[in-house]
Amino acid sequence: MKAVAVYGYSPCTGKTSIAKELAGFFHSQGRNTMLVDTDLVKGNLTEKLGLNSSPNIGVWAADIFKRLDFLPYWDINYTWNEIEPYVQTFNSLPVLASNTLEDLAGSPSLLGCVNVILQSLLKTPYDVLVFDNSGGVCDHTLNILLRMDKVLLVAEPFSFSLPNAEAFVRLLVDEGFSMDQFGLVLNRYPTHAEQDPLEISRTLGISLYGVLPNCPDLSGKRGQARIFTMDRANRFTDEIGHLANKIWNEN
Ligand SMILES: Nc1ncnc2c1ncn2[C@@H]1O[C@H](COP(=O)(O)OP(=O)(O)O)[C@@H](O)[C@H]1O
Ligand SMILES: [Mg+2]
Repeated sequence: MKAVAVYGYSPCTGKTSIAKELAGFFHSQGRNTMLVDTDLVKGNLTEKLGLNSSPNIGVWAADIFKRLDFLPYWDINYTWNEIEPYVQTFNSLPVLASNTLEDLAGSPSLLGCVNVILQSLLKTPYDVLVFDNSGGVCDHTLNILLRMDKVLLVAEPFSFSLPNAEAFVRLLVDEGFSMDQFGLVLNRYPTHAEQDPLEISRTLGISLYGVLPNCPDLSGKRGQARIFTMDRANRFTDEIGHLANKIWNEN
């Protein structure tokens, strides 16, 4: 199994778009894939995919909290049959949708709950799990990233600042991360006025995994409720495919 997190330190860099397109690509290649929204505060996968708001990861979390009253998190495991009621599908791709449980992110048992979700999902027979995360460095997000085979760090050239990115990487290293676990993705081609992706990759010590072109269909109404890698080839979906193959083929 490959567990991949799509992550970044600033909002609106394209994490959710990349997560859904990546999961869609793996799925259309015949890999048994699940897309998971672990942006517990502002997750918007349901909106982007036109799914129902429920069931979702928060409904599952509510059940986990009940079990956590009696058992430590490491003794709680959900089998695939027990997880299935919380999962929706988008064109046959299983999706664990955005949280709707109020205050989930502020709960004192959140870390235990996230551990139960992770340990249960990592034991399922999926080939690939793709996690869509919020930016920032809250404990539960770092906890998710630590368990991943690969973390894609998404940056958007227009708003990119190298000193900020370096400070962010130093923070992750202080938290115990190795940059080998990370892959850099620049979402949208930089203009001449912006920094060279390879230069950024060298400075940060993170391998460059992809530079994605502009894909206007992703934004606005026309882009809603679609996963382009499932039914259309363009430069954007081609790049997502390269990214997916790179992740799939590495040890
Ligand atoms: N490569 C791209 N080309 C054009 N628009 C994009 C691209 N990637 C993302 N977007 C748009 O940018 C906005 C933010 O993307 P989103 O995936 O929600 O970011 P995040 O999850 O990081 O907040 C959305 O409107 C999305 O459609
Ligand atoms: Mg998002």
